[in-house]
Amino acid sequence: MKKFIIGNWKMNLNVHESSLFVAKLNQEVPIEKDIEVAIAPSLLALQPLSLQIDHKQMKLCAQDCYWRDSGAFTGEISATQLRGLAQYVLVGHSERRHVFDERDRDIRFKVQAVLRNGLTPVLCIGETQMERKDGDTEHVINDQIASGLLNVGSDQIGDVIIAYEPVWAIGTGDTAQISDIEQAVKIIRAQVAHMFGKEAGKNIAILYGGSVKLTNARPILCAEGVDGLLIGGASLIAPEFSGMVKIAGEVMKEQTEKEAK
Ligand code: PGA
Repeated sequence: MKKFIIGNWKMNLNVHESSLFVAKLNQEVPIEKDIEVAIAPSLLALQPLSLQIDHKQMKLCAQDCYWRDSGAFTGEISATQLRGLAQYVLVGHSERRHVFDERDRDIRFKVQAVLRNGLTPVLCIGETQMERKDGDTEHVINDQIASGLLNVGSDQIGDVIIAYEPVWAIGTGDTAQISDIEQAVKIIRAQVAHMFGKEAGKNIAILYGGSVKLTNARPILCAEGVDGLLIGGASLIAPEFSGMVKIAGEVMKEQTEKEAK
């Protein structure tokens, strides 16, 4: 198993600033065994950064894409166009769902488009504050997984990553409790197992996102069933991001040693 550290830059940094920031990351981000690092800059910066990054050190992730491969869709970028530039694509990020009103159907089609084009979708799911208060968390997670992964083939599920990002934890400084994260991860694995079989449920990579920073990364990375982090704000601070990659490397090493005993 690998661990994933993905930095979501959102709508920050222009192309020049992105390039300067990558030069900084290039100096600071360690290459750790079995840790996959990716950054998600703006779509504009993907092409120049694809020429600049050390691909052994980090990969590129797109923040979104449209689900058709080509055609009259003004303003959109397809997964086909991302081929060769990005290895990962965020799909159904909470800001896409809640700010841009993206629907389950769009998200499902996007997951399929990303897979069809040989890239890895990072399907983002998570409940709102209100849904959690109403005791609907399990229901929401199950629904978003069932809908997002509908029509994904059993031969494709191994290429999907899920990011659990409670909406109320994104950009707020409020991180979910470890017990809540573990509970959510359990629900996700059970739902994937229900849809694709036991092995798929056990093996699917699940990341946590929502106000992750250097000071809380370790306990989250150590949480049962968590395979990595999707980091927003803190991924724009080089020592924070590189520090979390380092922690992931340490946690991976500790867990591998523990398993070997
Ligand atoms: P945050 O964002 O780390 O700033 O909370 C996480 C995300 O939106 O993926």
